[in-house]
This record gives sequence, C-alpha cells and structure tokens, in this order.
Amino acid sequence: MAKAIYKGLPKEHEFVVVKRDLQDKFWEGKAELQPAGTVVDGDVYILAVKPISFHPATEPLVDKDEVVISIMAGISKDMICERMQNEDVVRCMPNLPVSIGEGYIPYTVTTEKAERRFKELFSPLGHLESTEEEYLDALTALTGTSPLYISVFIDALLDAGIKVGLPREMVRTAAVQCTIGGARYLQHEKIHPMELKDMVSSPAGTSIHALHNLEKSGVKAAIIDAVEMAYNRSKQLKSLREI
Ligand SMILES: NC(=O)c1ccc[n+]([C@@H]2O[C@H](COP(=O)([O-])OP(=O)(O)OC[C@H]3O[C@@H](n4cnc5c(N)ncnc54)[C@H](OP(=O)(O)O)[C@@H]3O)[C@@H](O)[C@H]2O)c1
Repeated sequence: MAKAIYKGLPKEHEFVVVKRDLQDKFWEGKAELQPAGTVVDGDVYILAVKPISFHPATEPLVDKDEVVISIMAGISKDMICERMQNEDVVRCMPNLPVSIGEGYIPYTVTTEKAERRFKELFSPLGHLESTEEEYLDALTALTGTSPLYISVFIDALLDAGIKVGLPREMVRTAAVQCTIGGARYLQHEKIHPMELKDMVSSPAGTSIHALHNLEKSGVKAAIIDAVEMAYNRSKQLKSLREI
C-alpha cells in the first residue's frame, strides 16, 4: 500500500522510506531509503506496516511532534497515541485505487491539526470520508477489500466471455469498461442498484434469465459472507499484534 500511496501523491513532496529490505528496486530514484529503526525527521509520518510490525516500526518515532497517519487495519487511534506519545493522529483505510487518484479513504482523527494536514496531503488520492472510528473495521472489510471483489467479478466476466466465444482482448476491454460504466451510472443517477435491475430486465428477456441464475447460485450471499469474514478478520488483527 505504501507504493500505491506514493504513486498517487504529487511528486513535489520529498519521500523518505524506512523499511527492512533495502534491495527493493521500486524506490530507486523515487525516495531516500533508510533501514528499519532509523530515526527520521519528517513533516508527517505515514505508518504503512502490518499491524504485527506496529511496535518495532514505531520505535524510532516515539515522542515526535508531527502528524502521524496510519493505514494499519485494526490498530486504534488511542493505541497509536499511547504508543507514540503523539496526540495528532489520523487513522485511515485507503484502497488500491489511491495510486490513480480514485481511492475511497475513510478516516478518523484526534485533532484539527491532524485533519488539516491529512487533507492537504491525501486529497489527491481520492475521496476522503470522515467517519467514526467504530465504523473503520467494517469499512476495511468493505472498501479496503473492494478491489478484490471487483477483480473476482471481472475475472468471472472474462471466463464467461471466452466461454460464449468472444476474443480474449475484446472481453477484457468490455468487462472492465462495463463495470466502470455500471458503477458510474449508479453514481450519476443516484439510484438504488435494484432500480437499475428493473430498468434492464425486460419481460422474458436475457437479463431476467441471467438474474435468475445469479440468485440460484447465491452470489449476493457469497459477497455478504466475504465482507463479514473480512470484518471478523479485521477485528482479530488487534490481538495478533500481541504475538
Ligand atoms: N493491502 C491493502 O490493500 C491494504 C489496504 C488498506 C490498508 N492496508 C494496511 O496497510 C498495512 C500494510 O499492508 P501491505 O499489504 O502494504 O503490507 P506489506 O506489503 O507486507 O508491507 C509492509 C511494509 O512494512 C515494512 N516493515 C515491516 N516491518 C518494518 C519495520 N520494523 N520498520 C519499518 N518497516 C517495516 C515492510 O518492509 P520490508 O518490505 O522492507 O520488509 C513493508 O514495506 C497493513 O497494516 C494493512 O492493514 C492494506
């Protein structure tokens, strides 16, 4: 995710990346690389480590005054404030499309200073949504994981297109564009998805036949189960941090 965030941020910023693997070629020519444990002076600190690495990774950042932005799942603002002895904390949950400025980023803050700095820095990454912290675990399961759900859906359309005899390249463009178009249409018209279903389902037509099979296969239930499982896992990560 650190790489996705970097890609979406304006390059006028100066980046220092602190990590364990200094052979990572991605950062060559993009950022100054420093080994894990280095004390770095920055204007803002972005915590993009796994929850299990929270303690070792923040060791050099305890008692800093600058705003801390965490993207870690399951680690609360209070835990970050207490650990880092810093009152200006943002906890947010970006998703992969931040790399092209199309992210959805729910966030919660401790102070106005933290929110101001966060908005200045992260606005180019996509839609910033202020939210209560109690919703962040659930949003992680829904929005953080959403690129996966969309990918599985598009992959299924690809297989389907091949099965009904379409050329591979044509199916790929069609599946991606129709997914974007369908989502943009819902966004633009501000209608409920089931209204769209009624609009496209003509009596005895192709769509209602397709829908019948989707319902029989339990597609909606599978998606609901997936989000619920991701939600439960997000809550579990808090305790894994202790291992
Ligand atoms: N993946 C997503 O779609 C997504 C979305 C939203 C939020 N998140 C959150 O983002 C965080 C990172 O996830 P990820 O998928 O990007 O994981 P990842 O690819 O494993 O990246 C973790 C990074 O942490 C670095 N790191 C580990 N220990 C460190 C230490 N002691 N000091 C400094 N750096 C250290 C690693 O450096 P090395 O490579 O050098 O080991 C690596 O660059 C997680 O907390 C996750 O909940 C992920």
